Amino acid sequence: MSITNFCSASSGAHTVTPKVTFQTLQEKKQAGRPITALTAYDYSTARLVDEAGMDLILVGDSLAMVVMGYDSTLPVTTEEMLHHTRAVRRAVKHAIVVADMPFGSYHVSVEKGVANAVRFVKEAGAEAVKIEGGAARCELVERLTEAGIPVVCHLGLTPQAVHRMGGYKVQGKTLAAAEELTRDARMLEASGAAAIVLEGMPREVAAIITSQLHIPTIGIGAGPDCDGQILVFHDLVNLSFSKPAKFVRQYGDAAALFRQAIEGYVHDVEERAFPDESESYHVSKEVMDALKAPETCEAPKAHPKAHLIRKV
Ligand code: KIV
Repeated sequence: MSITNFCSASSGAHTVTPKVTFQTLQEKKQAGRPITALTAYDYSTARLVDEAGMDLILVGDSLAMVVMGYDSTLPVTTEEMLHHTRAVRRAVKHAIVVADMPFGSYHVSVEKGVANAVRFVKEAGAEAVKIEGGAARCELVERLTEAGIPVVCHLGLTPQAVHRMGGYKVQGKTLAAAEELTRDARMLEASGAAAIVLEGMPREVAAIITSQLHIPTIGIGAGPDCDGQILVFHDLVNLSFSKPAKFVRQYGDAAALFRQAIEGYVHDVEERAFPDESESYHVSKEVMDALKAPETCEAPKAHPKAHLIRKV
């Protein structure tokens, strides 16, 4: 098996699927071929996402909300993100696995940011890390790139800054804000960023940034002119338990599918319709006959210290 090719574990035919790298994403941008990206947080969904041929899988800190039930991404810890990244890593053979660095893991100092990013690569098998923020992140991007860790930056509506933004609001709508986003994107690229996620901004602003950068942009709520698109897995399949944002398109209804299966199971157990004969194990007739014969069943001997055992 070469480094760049492997036999994918996709169902059916034994197909040779090339491993996606940041160079692949770069080539896709240059060729005008859209980059596909989706979040995943566990082994089973990551396998499905990878086997569908996704280019990039993000273990997003959105898991704080869609997996852990918090009302923002802020509480999830580095240990929890490492745990989920490991599960995804074990499933993925083809896509680039990017770990989202959680709030607090790179905000205190560049040194702490580098040390935590190293943990995502070394302990969880991430191929890159993602960090939120603009020009203020340039030093960290430089240091990580120097250390050999590709960095995906994240601009626009950055959920870790929810309190500063005053809510989950579209960014870059004024001239000054749009210019700042464009400048930030160029500075992050110059610092070594491997790609930039553009979230929650007017499509016109995302299009200008995309046309000015050599590195790929991956949009979410940033219109169709980015080099690629990313969505949160749970939004895609209706598992978020919240009103979908304007930019979300639902491609399936896993909530309905799961609900039907769970309710069917409850019904069958209550009606003694599950399990049935075909779902049961059996002993041979000889063992059964012996089990039924009373003389083969020796009465259990009393424990020698039974009188000392306290009855509860
Ligand atoms: O955490 C996440 O899922 C993300 C994507 C929305 C880009 O940052």
